[in-house]
Amino acid sequence: MACICKLLLVCLLFFLLHFPVISSSFLSNFSSNLCDKVEATALLQFKNSFLIDPTISKDIDCCQWDGVTCDPLAGHVIGLDLSCSQLIGPMISNNSIFLLHHLQSLNLGFNNFNSNIPRELGQLSHLEYLNLYDSGFFGHVPSEMAQLSQLRSLDLSSNHIIAMPNFGEIIANLTELRELHLYGVAINSIIPQSLTNLSYLTSLQLSNCSLQGKFPNDIIQLPHLQVLDVSSNEQSLCQFHNNLPTGAVPLRYWISRVAPFLGDYLISFLTQISRLLIQFFGDNSLSGMLPSWLFNLPLLELLYLRGNQFSGELNHINSNNNSLGTIDLSYNNISGSIPNAIFGLMSLSILVLGSNNLSGTVELDRFSKLKSLNDLDLSANNLSVTTINENANFTITWPQLEVLKLSFCNIIEFPSFLRSQENLSELDLSNNNIHGEVPKWLQDMGKESMNYLDLSQNSITGGLEDLRSWPSLRYVNLHSNRLQGPMPILPLFVEFFKASNNRLAREIPLSICDLTILRVLDLSHNRLSGEMPQCMGNFIFTLLLLNLGSNNLHGSIPWTFGINSVLTTLVLNGNQLEGRLPRSLVNCTQLKLLDLGNNKLNDTFPDWLGALPGLMILILHSNNFHGRVRTTKEEQQPFPKLQILDLSDNSFRGIFPSRLLNGFKAMMKDDGKNDALQYIDEKLFNNFECMSTESIVLTFKGVARELSRVLTTLVDIDLSGNKFRGAIPYSIGKLVLVRYLNLSHNNFIGSIPPSLGNLNVIESLDLSSNQLTGQIPRELVNLHFLVNFSVADNKLDGAIPHGEQFDLFENSSYLGNIGLCGYPLSKKCYLPLQPQSVENNPQSADFDEWKIILIGYGCGLIIGLVAGYYIFHARTPLWLLNLLRQKKFAIARASNKWQRQQEG
Ligand SMILES: *[C@@H]1O[C@H](CO)[C@@H](O)[C@H](O)[C@H]1NC(C)=O
Ligand SMILES: *[C@@H]1O[C@H](CO)[C@@H](O)[C@H](O)[C@H]1NC(C)=O
Ligand SMILES: *[C@@H]1O[C@H](CO)[C@@H](O)[C@H](O)[C@H]1NC(C)=O
Ligand SMILES: *[C@@H]1O[C@H](CO)[C@@H](O)[C@H](O)[C@H]1NC(C)=O
Ligand SMILES: *[C@@H]1O[C@H](CO)[C@@H](O)[C@H](O)[C@H]1NC(C)=O
Ligand SMILES: *[C@@H]1O[C@H](CO)[C@@H](O)[C@H](O)[C@H]1NC(C)=O
Ligand SMILES: *[C@@H]1O[C@H](CO)[C@@H](O)[C@H](O)[C@H]1NC(C)=O
Ligand SMILES: *[C@@H]1O[C@H](CO)[C@@H](O)[C@H](O)[C@H]1NC(C)=O
Repeated sequence: MACICKLLLVCLLFFLLHFPVISSSFLSNFSSNLCDKVEATALLQFKNSFLIDPTISKDIDCCQWDGVTCDPLAGHVIGLDLSCSQLIGPMISNNSIFLLHHLQSLNLGFNNFNSNIPRELGQLSHLEYLNLYDSGFFGHVPSEMAQLSQLRSLDLSSNHIIAMPNFGEIIANLTELRELHLYGVAINSIIPQSLTNLSYLTSLQLSNCSLQGKFPNDIIQLPHLQVLDVSSNEQSLCQFHNNLPTGAVPLRYWISRVAPFLGDYLISFLTQISRLLIQFFGDNSLSGMLPSWLFNLPLLELLYLRGNQFSGELNHINSNNNSLGTIDLSYNNISGSIPNAIFGLMSLSILVLGSNNLSGTVELDRFSKLKSLNDLDLSANNLSVTTINENANFTITWPQLEVLKLSFCNIIEFPSFLRSQENLSELDLSNNNIHGEVPKWLQDMGKESMNYLDLSQNSITGGLEDLRSWPSLRYVNLHSNRLQGPMPILPLFVEFFKASNNRLAREIPLSICDLTILRVLDLSHNRLSGEMPQCMGNFIFTLLLLNLGSNNLHGSIPWTFGINSVLTTLVLNGNQLEGRLPRSLVNCTQLKLLDLGNNKLNDTFPDWLGALPGLMILILHSNNFHGRVRTTKEEQQPFPKLQILDLSDNSFRGIFPSRLLNGFKAMMKDDGKNDALQYIDEKLFNNFECMSTESIVLTFKGVARELSRVLTTLVDIDLSGNKFRGAIPYSIGKLVLVRYLNLSHNNFIGSIPPSLGNLNVIESLDLSSNQLTGQIPRELVNLHFLVNFSVADNKLDGAIPHGEQFDLFENSSYLGNIGLCGYPLSKKCYLPLQPQSVENNPQSADFDEWKIILIGYGCGLIIGLVAGYYIFHARTPLWLLNLLRQKKFAIARASNKWQRQQEG
């Protein structure tokens, strides 16, 4: 946020630089320190080396420019702050900035110079403050930096790869340093002894610097050191020399990964030092039991162990601890109940225990004793959190909270203490059993502060007409409740609104057009009616996901999308929409998912959507699309990322062009499979942490399919229920990643292309109700994952192939073909046996194989079913799972067959 403000200021600076004449009228303070003209020119040259030329007037007082500080007496430029200025381009050695010899403070952080750190920086010998944080430098840190012997603060963190092989020599001369921040700088050595000479150091951050060796004790004893971060270096750095200091040490804030777990000597050290804050950056690197002594460090203020794998219970918490202010143990495996001692931690302001295995019942009001409490998160445990009934006679006073997260806590009503909360900014009561209406008083709570509200997955009834009493709201999630009435009117800065699966009715209010930074709008599965608001195209710069599916909307799709639309997901399935598709959709170049199924749209095939480079899912099912499917000549590879194409139940006719199939590179193996087959919506998921578990439900042919973030396996083509004619294109066999292919209910003629036998992972193949002739190609027997197969109602003849899963298809797969014969049909074949069946006693061999496979997959089935994602996630093939569902049946049938063979 600071950065954004800064950016605005810097823009102003450049504006002033560009228009000096205008700018002078803005400047009211023409005080004595008219800036040195040489330095003014130098500044302008510096600016010019990154931006276009202005016409300059040198009379301007550069000391007035934003980011420029001058010496009030001599008028020299002594400070320059160009952080976050979007400066792009190399910083070359003749850069005029090096003419500013009097500079004491230089901040170039958050830019992108994309060059070496210039050695001329060493000429700025008066520098006391130098910040190059995240400014795109690479290469070696020049040894001339050692000339900056006045430096008090140096920050070279987070650049591209910078190496600092001469670290020891440089800092040996920087004895005035207070702050040394080198996060991510490749120092690649042991910690040099010269560091212990920096006796003024207060903050030392050497995280991720490839440091090796043991950590010198002398550094902990530096008399002013308060912050020490040596995390993310080689393990050996976590070992201390054995003779740890005794007596008080100023160190307060210690960021480490494993250090405090390495032995008793360290523990005794930790108990001595004053006001230690320990923060671990977990990346699942820590596991084992939570050390009991941690809670007994008498001066511990902050305990942050989020996201590790600690187990054990919290029963070592010592209620006499008066220093502990923050406990974040979320995302571990901590079990047991919440101990009484926790309610004695009088300094506790942040208690975050979400996503563990805590159990038992806890009375929410007990936390009211923690008078400093600010954040409370008990979500996603096995806790039952009880609340005092609203009507009970109580006089409990609660501290003012900012964050309350009680998701999955078996709560049955809105906690009544919320009435008195004035500062609440985040409230998560999702996934509980809250019944009844949202109480009127709830909206009086946290009026100025509320910005995150999640009430999803409850049984909340009634209406919520207006949420503008919370003007700061940005995230609102109400999905899966029983809310009625119109969609609530939202405050202006809502970014995320999800109210799907409710009973919201009436029109979508036009007030939605006033929202300026809307990013996600999901109103699917409600009873909304009327036409769609005209304004959705206005949100192009912000709107990522729009889902109005399964409502009662009618009229046309009115939106005009401009270039630069960021829309990635548009779902309007299941409404009564009419008319043509807005051609401006072609401007939505980020579009990945377009689901317009089950409407009354009347248009021809949108070949122009083939130009969208990332479109992965196109669903036009059950509309009035008509005419031939054409491809535009210009598009060399239309629809290059398409994974799901559903044109079913429309009135398309003519030949389905091979040329189109040839464009579907994402369905072919040779096109970087991993690249093509990934994800639904990175942007969405990256920006809303809370969305990471969200998914989108699509409905194809009455089967709801849930698409999660990574779309690895779904490759479907459904052309059924049209009037396609001509032969099935042979090139369909190139789409080797297809899992589901439905060409049924068309007028396809000719024979079934043997190339279908190349679709190695296909699970469902439906060619029924066409005019196909000839035999079923034996190549199809190689399709080991095929579980649904139908060629019913065609004009096929000859023997049905057997072997593999072809022995498991029902006779309904073949009905309506007068010429077909053989198992499972009752009609016998009088043809000579197929060559393949000459192989040794196939049926009994088959049966034995099945037994082995069935046993082998037994466990997989259970895991798959329990995990609940057997369709898309488990590696177990779908056909086998289906098979296992009918396991007894399959065995019985195979066994009967085997018996028949024996008898016959
Ligand atoms: C001019 O700037 C100086 C230093 O920032 C300040 O002390 C003084 O009050 C300003 N004068 C006017 C007229 O704004
Ligand atoms: C700096 O040097 C480059 C060539 O290295 C030159 O093009 C540029 O004009 C010089 N800039 C100044 C301000 O002298
Ligand atoms: C160290 O700083 C002094 C000025 O304080 C300077 O003269 C000297 O050259 C510097 N040493 C190195 C190695 O740069
Ligand atoms: C550590 O720094 C390197 C560059 O030196 C960078 O590529 C890497 O991502 C950093 N690691 C972490 C965990 O930040
Ligand atoms: C530390 O400073 C002292 C005095 O300035 C100097 O003699 C000594 O060499 C320095 N030690 C290191 C390792 O730089
Ligand atoms: C309810 O509260 C009032 C005053 O706060 C008190 O006089 C009364 O006894 C309480 N009733 C019960 C049932 O606790
Ligand atoms: C795409 O957007 C531009 C403006 O950004 C607009 O002029 C153009 O008409 C749009 N394209 C279509 C097909 O609507
Ligand atoms: C589709 O639109 C055309 C005119 O554009 C019209 O002639 C035709 O009847 C419409 N079809 C349906 C099914 O509404």
